[in-house]
Amino acid sequence: MTGKYNAMLDQMVRDYSLVTHGYSGAAPANPYPMFEEKRAKCPVMHGDLLQENSIPSMADYMMTGRPVVTLYRYNDIHSVLMNPDDWLSYIVGDGFGAAVDNLLLTAMDGEEHTKYRKTLQKPFMRGQIRKLMETLIRPVVVNEFVEKLRPNGKADLLREFALPFPIRAMYAYFGFPHDEDLLGNLASWAIQVVAAPQTDPEVAKVTIPQSMVAGQSMFETLMPIVQQYRARGEMRNDILGYMMTTEHEGEKFSDEDIANFIRMLLLAAGETTTRSFANMMVQLLEEPDVLEELRQDLSLVPKAVMETMRRDPTAGAVARIAARDMEIGGMTIPKGTAVLCSIASANRDPEVYDDPDRLWLKRPMRPLLSFGFGPHMCLGMHMALTEMEVALEEILDLPGLRFDPAYPQPEIRGLNMRGPDALHVLWDVDGA
Ligand code: HEM
Repeated sequence: MTGKYNAMLDQMVRDYSLVTHGYSGAAPANPYPMFEEKRAKCPVMHGDLLQENSIPSMADYMMTGRPVVTLYRYNDIHSVLMNPDDWLSYIVGDGFGAAVDNLLLTAMDGEEHTKYRKTLQKPFMRGQIRKLMETLIRPVVVNEFVEKLRPNGKADLLREFALPFPIRAMYAYFGFPHDEDLLGNLASWAIQVVAAPQTDPEVAKVTIPQSMVAGQSMFETLMPIVQQYRARGEMRNDILGYMMTTEHEGEKFSDEDIANFIRMLLLAAGETTTRSFANMMVQLLEEPDVLEELRQDLSLVPKAVMETMRRDPTAGAVARIAARDMEIGGMTIPKGTAVLCSIASANRDPEVYDDPDRLWLKRPMRPLLSFGFGPHMCLGMHMALTEMEVALEEILDLPGLRFDPAYPQPEIRGLNMRGPDALHVLWDVDGA
């Protein structure tokens, strides 16, 4: 590994930790007992769970004081997410939308959202992504990461694998040139944009201007890549090629549109997969019997990905705002009230999941809320799931994988963007 590559990883770890720290606030690392209590006592709660824990909340990123209600039950949250006419998404753009010219699919509503979603989703559909499994994703995971790590017998899987591999795979699918500096810079800027909202005004004084600079730097870096791709004139089967040849409302996208969209995708594509993969590995390593069951039957890998994402999701909450007076669980929610939907709580709702705390690979699955649900359900879900499945299969191929006792056992923390700070593991090496 070059010094430059190591420096890039260090930077990514620093940016990642800043986000974890911001989203941990005053909350307990294990919030599940608290959710159990909330579901029993106040499943539709006046107030904002995140703000109460000093965590920036997408229900009111700019802290305007708008009324907020927090939802804890699966069925309430499912019904909100399935009903985008009554529950609008525009508030999600308040926090860092300005840094990316307010071009965020997740913050669009109505016709605008439907049209853009239809145009953009084709290269992210399941069939399309599954074709990449062996041609792009596995070669990246195996050749660039797992086979390089294997002789070492140990690693911080967060730093050396979970942070860089999703970005590397995603960037290859975008059609970007393979360039470590480019990868590192874009990844760091993307995290800096996401880290903009902070509850401490002193910290926000730094992170908000920093996010504006980061958003602009992303755009200025992406534009020449897009222009060079177009100038080469060879349209490949990747995202840049797709965006240059497709039409939106009868018109082709300009280079500027494409750079803006890629920037938006970069915000959503990297860290979420990193954290979900890390959370999955922590849960599996904490339960050696389950890990062994998985090793014995690799057909359970897709279930393991879904079940660990249910049991400890990284996207702990999403938000909407009432377009008109609404009612949930017998409580009137006046127009203009935001609802914070605690996905992490819904995923352990015993009305929907039997024995919800148990890590159970053969669990009968219900529609999973960890990628959101309804029309805004994660556009990159199949990319993320495929990356995680391949990564898990290849990591399981390291014999005797276990936590490294030289380090404290990793703890998943945060009420949103949940993840561990590090993931030190050991495995057996032939002949060692
Ligand atoms: C395991 C990894 C991921 C997780 C946990 C995750 C989670 C989510 C969630 C919860 C939402 C819904 C937000 C809402 O309803 O307010 C969402 C939306 C979105 N995600 Fe992901 N995501 C992941 C990976 C990705 C990847 C790899 C991409 C890009 C290729 C991506 C792109 C998007 C986009 C564009 C949206 C907005 C969709 C829309 O509003 O129509 N995500 N994601």
